[in-house]
Amino acid sequence: MSRIFSGVQPSGNLHLGNYLGAIRNFVGLQDDYECIYCAVNMHAITVWQDPEELRNNTREVAAAYIAAGVDPKRSIIFAQSTVPAHAELAWIFNCVARLGWMNRMTQFKEKAGKNRENASLGLYAYPSLMAADIMVYKATHVPVGEDQKQHLELTRDIAQKFNNDYGTETFPLVEPLIFGAATRVMSLRDGSKKMSKSDPSDYSRITFTDDRDSIAKKLRKARTDADPLPDAEEGLKDRPEAANLVGIYAALANLTRQEVLNEFAGAAFSTFKPALTDLAVEKFGPIGEEMKRLMADPGHVDAILREGAERASAIAAPVIDEVKEVVGLIRP
Ligand code: TYM
Repeated sequence: MSRIFSGVQPSGNLHLGNYLGAIRNFVGLQDDYECIYCAVNMHAITVWQDPEELRNNTREVAAAYIAAGVDPKRSIIFAQSTVPAHAELAWIFNCVARLGWMNRMTQFKEKAGKNRENASLGLYAYPSLMAADIMVYKATHVPVGEDQKQHLELTRDIAQKFNNDYGTETFPLVEPLIFGAATRVMSLRDGSKKMSKSDPSDYSRITFTDDRDSIAKKLRKARTDADPLPDAEEGLKDRPEAANLVGIYAALANLTRQEVLNEFAGAAFSTFKPALTDLAVEKFGPIGEEMKRLMADPGHVDAILREGAERASAIAAPVIDEVKEVVGLIRP
């Protein structure tokens, strides 16, 4: 039995990288799999979140899923905090995962920065909660962007160690689904950094709430080099900013990078950027519009999240019971 699980943090500034790397891929998978899509609000609080904004951003993630084409009737959409089994399994996984494994996590190192002593314990244990998110549904496939690959490898390690330690086959080994022409969208200001919600510069990312004017402005200001576009992919090699914009175009147009270059070989950025702006406005703009429309009726979104929580809980309950039984934890 195959089951999909994925999540997005409601930490504001949802962007084109989240869409092209993950959310867009959620949509097509609904045809072939049972899908569970979560707004991971307990992950968000591993760094400070304003409570009122967190509530609103949680709805916004759900609205973004729906606006992108996730069907709340077919798929489950819910907020992590509404299914307590995530936190329960995360604690058990904290006792399975090893400190050495956590110390290797690059996302922790990046997010904690230089002042590691001052990072929250939750930020350190983040990947253990992520493993619990997936395993509490015994999900088999997880669509994500490239940056989550290491966390999914850790999820496999935790599941395997649990199975070995207890001599069971409780958990499946999960497979990452990383696909599309833009699995790692880079910052518009710096081609060596990924596009991220937490970048201090709003010009580094295109967000779901950007209108035509701001999309155009951000792309016009996007950093590039002085050369025209090459005719083959090899020509993008040491040109991270150019490669990024071509990748974004390819993903939005459903083309390969080479097909984009076939069309734009020899073009200057003064030609390519307006074409990319038109495409982004056409393909990404309406999703943001729909998200905003959904956000105008929070009661509707909340009802979807409530129904999703019930359906998710029904799947998670027997799994957490089984795990407690295996571990020897007395159940209520
Ligand atoms: P988060 O909220 O940072 O990002 C959500 C999804 O967007 C992808 N993504 C990107 N893809 C391409 N280019 C980018 N610049 C870019 N930035 C983000 C991410 O890979 C992700 O798929 N740890 C996760 C949330 C999570 C989760 C889970 C995911 C918690 N539990 C269980 C899957 C399964 C995260 O921080 O995503």
